Amino acid sequence: MVVEQTLLVVKPDGVGRQLTGRILARFEEKGFQIKNITSFNFTIEKAQEFYAPHRDKAFFNDLVKFISSGLVVACIVEGTNALISVRLMIGATKSFEAAPGTIRGDFGIGLTDNVIHASDSYESFIKESRVIFDRIT
Ligand code: CMP
Repeated sequence: MVVEQTLLVVKPDGVGRQLTGRILARFEEKGFQIKNITSFNFTIEKAQEFYAPHRDKAFFNDLVKFISSGLVVACIVEGTNALISVRLMIGATKSFEAAPGTIRGDFGIGLTDNVIHASDSYESFIKESRVIFDRIT
């Protein structure tokens, strides 16, 4: 059992559909701490930086356009085994395949519009936090 941090981004579809409070409540109910919460609009440049690991994928431009299309809410989630636990709580990438009870399973509609992003590893957490907070918190 190890206390970890991970980065969460409620995407423009989640913020636009006013799901932020309900989504973040799940992590609090689970016992995690919400830290460094902020809301902002990704610029195209910041979005390209954030999703740099996907830059060679066919869906990269759509992804960048979507994440820059409206307000997002980002925060650090801290708690026991947060990296794997938060990934399990958000569910499969394709909302239509995500299990009921997961955030994407309960609230998500599509693949690009899948409500929420969470870091998939400690390395991703560090890189993504640098893009969003311009520092490691
Ligand atoms: P996210 O967890 O934010 O990480 C990368 C995102 O790319 C993913 O969620 C999806 O929203 C998006 N995406 C779009 N098309 C695809 C695809 N074909 N395969 C995987 N991810 C995709």
